[in-house]
Amino acid sequence: MGATKLAANPGFSAGLEGVTAARSGLCSIDGQQGRLYYLGYSIEELAQYSSFEEVCFLLWRRRFPTASELKALKKRFVECRALPEEIAPHIERLPKDAAPMGVLRTLASLLCNLDKNQDNGVAANEERAVRMTAQFPTMMAAFHRLRRGQKAVAPHPSLDHAANFLYMLSGSQPTKDEARLMDVALILHADHEMNASTFSSLVTASTLSDLYSAVVSGIGTLKGPLHGGANEEVLKMIDAIGDASKVEAYVRESFRAKKYRIMGFGHRIYKTVDPRARVFKEYARNVVAGTDSERLFNINVRLEEVMQAQVGSKGIYANVDLYSGLVYQALGIPPDLFTPIFAIARVAGWTAHVLEYWQENRLFRPNAEYVGPEPRSYEPVEKRRQDYSKA
Ligand code: CMC
Repeated sequence: MGATKLAANPGFSAGLEGVTAARSGLCSIDGQQGRLYYLGYSIEELAQYSSFEEVCFLLWRRRFPTASELKALKKRFVECRALPEEIAPHIERLPKDAAPMGVLRTLASLLCNLDKNQDNGVAANEERAVRMTAQFPTMMAAFHRLRRGQKAVAPHPSLDHAANFLYMLSGSQPTKDEARLMDVALILHADHEMNASTFSSLVTASTLSDLYSAVVSGIGTLKGPLHGGANEEVLKMIDAIGDASKVEAYVRESFRAKKYRIMGFGHRIYKTVDPRARVFKEYARNVVAGTDSERLFNINVRLEEVMQAQVGSKGIYANVDLYSGLVYQALGIPPDLFTPIFAIARVAGWTAHVLEYWQENRLFRPNAEYVGPEPRSYEPVEKRRQDYSKA
């Protein structure tokens, strides 16, 4: 068969870098200046003054709630926190050593099977977004306690979202400062423009699949160490480094051996320090003061100095994951729950983006630049001489 050279696609961009995949009014980033806004409000102001519940409303409704609307949303969260009764036996049957992100993915998928409502309208999907956001912390806390041989703790009706999560994890009410710390962490992670997991949620949603499936896609994507999974990896890395005096040698060796990326550094969009890292750094500095973790904090500070000298000119700076683990550790949370916390917050962003995208839905279906063999004829197996493993 005559072979025709197939044309290369001039629009190819590896990893879709620089490609604008959707229009959105939710979140904007200035990667050069290190600025992040939800609906025009800076992340610094939101972290200082807002609450996770208020940010959820902002993302879902694209405006701040009135006092009574905020009260109503908080009430709805409280009403929705308890899990459907069919979920508990599933959590009990899961292997105790299962990775929590995999558990969250499975349980989120189960919620879809339990939802018998066929209505796919805006109001029904907003209600699903509220329920998933309310229930993810309950699922994670229940799994965490059961795997440790403890009984799950029922949600506390008079605690806000962040405080209730800490309460369900530990069984005791957090202090005001601890609750605020978790609230800020959830605000910082609630949305982040067209990140990989939001994009995969939108790809799933664009086929007119359902909101749960879109969120499950997001969870699966967030799990990877180049995305949400980096926060857990950072703590492993700084534990392995052990002391600030060893940072320089560690970074030098990593670069020399091209072993792996320095976790908690680098970002596709930010070419300076991620503003969320700045906020986390100050909270981390306060919570580690006078504790053993001060040593780990100092490793991070030194890593920032060494990385700036080595690769600052390439725009590789601290990202959100560098200091978040130290904050979670101070709250008594084990490393394998760090990425689930990211998901517990980001479900607000995923659902908000899907709800927005569905208003003017268009199927995502990009091209691939074909680099394989030219067209050729089928060869029956008995006539094949070629060793295909070497083709
Ligand atoms: N350590 C060392 N080198 C790095 C790093 C890093 N963390 N990040 C990027 N580089 C280098 C990379 O080796 C490459 O160098 P060269 O041009 O010489 O080959 C250059 O920077 C560009 O890298 P890239 O992989 O093309 O850039 P990207 O935009 O695809 O990468 C990233 C973004 C986040 C995947 C990457 O920076 C990385 O792997 N970071 C470590 C993992 C991490 O912390 N992820 C969390 C991201 S923030 C939370 C979230 O929202 O997901």
